[in-house]
Amino acid sequence: VDPQIQALLDLYADATKLYHHFLVNTAVGEQALDYLHERGLDDGTIDAYSLGFAPTGDVLLKYFEEKKIDYQLLRASELFVTWSDGTLHDRFNDRVLFTIRNAKGQPIAYSGRKLTSGDDEPKYINSPESPLFEKSRELFNLDMAKNAIRKSKQVILFEGFMDVIAAFQAGINNGVASMGTSLTPEQVHILNRMAESISVTYDADSAGQAATKRALDLIAMNSQLKAQVVHIPDNQDPDEFLRSHDSTAFTNVFVHNTEDPVAFNIRYLQTDRNMNNQAEVFAYIADVLPVIASVDEPLIRETYLAQLSDAYHISLAGLQQQIQPLLLAKI
Ligand code: GTP
Ligand code: MN
Ligand code: MN
Ligand code: MN
Ligand code: MN
Repeated sequence: VDPQIQALLDLYADATKLYHHFLVNTAVGEQALDYLHERGLDDGTIDAYSLGFAPTGDVLLKYFEEKKIDYQLLRASELFVTWSDGTLHDRFNDRVLFTIRNAKGQPIAYSGRKLTSGDDEPKYINSPESPLFEKSRELFNLDMAKNAIRKSKQVILFEGFMDVIAAFQAGINNGVASMGTSLTPEQVHILNRMAESISVTYDADSAGQAATKRALDLIAMNSQLKAQVVHIPDNQDPDEFLRSHDSTAFTNVFVHNTEDPVAFNIRYLQTDRNMNNQAEVFAYIADVLPVIASVDEPLIRETYLAQLSDAYHISLAGLQQQIQPLLLAKI
């Protein structure tokens, strides 16, 4: 290993221990620890994920200065921000820290969540890219989930850290998250090497559904993974659902509340369209025919076309004619 990389890994390992110590052993971290307990996390989970608390007052900088760590290394770590006067200061202040680890389990970045709602600070602040952290190639929890994913050949894709962690605590240990940024081709390639199927389990709100649409397209373009969409009931995110239900109820959602990508698209592409308006119906048809054309089985394609014909009073023969060039383009 490159000596600078090793030094940065050591720095992050040290920082993670310090932040965890503040969370679990000190008065300054008490409020943050209460916050995590109130969100349903137990101490075993808090340890397993090396969750931390970053107080105010440049505690990390002081800690590393005392240890006489080289300033260039501190700069390169992105654990600090540089003020206009050139001085370094802790990047994370008064936040709960989710430790982001690489696939080997080594800490390489953090995401800091504010404890209170209301002020106009962003809910999460993430580490920027660094020599250790290439955002597009990392998946939160891959280190803990990789064995379960390889064994079951299935991976669950969540939106948020708390969704992954709540699922893990409930015994569902093949979940990962793409960390706020939308899913990338590199992340899909990694999962494609480990699994055969992927359950996209994003939030039920409109942002989550839009992200589901993008994820499904990306998965189809970049992998052989068989995808399904999982719908969490009652407009909740998986973490909220798990707090009010047991893991059996959650497992049932994975069995009964799913949609294949074609069904998802046929439904989702209607979003925000007035299907009483002829022009919007035709625009919808133009969007949805490529989705139906992607289905390999002719009988299933015909069934979808017949459904469209029925629902919007359009000639079936016309639909069949319009889908022909798309089918030919597949070959
Ligand atoms: P909780 O409120 O803690 O349960 O978070 P959540 O995971 O439910 O957050 P949400 O559904 O709003 O967003 C999903 C993911 O998007 C989060 O886990 C973060 O990775 C990311 N995210 C959310 N808010 C912000 C933000 O203000 N800034 C950045 N950079 N990322 C965010
Ligand atoms: Mn501990
Ligand atoms: Mn969300
Ligand atoms: Mn959420
Ligand atoms: Mn949430």
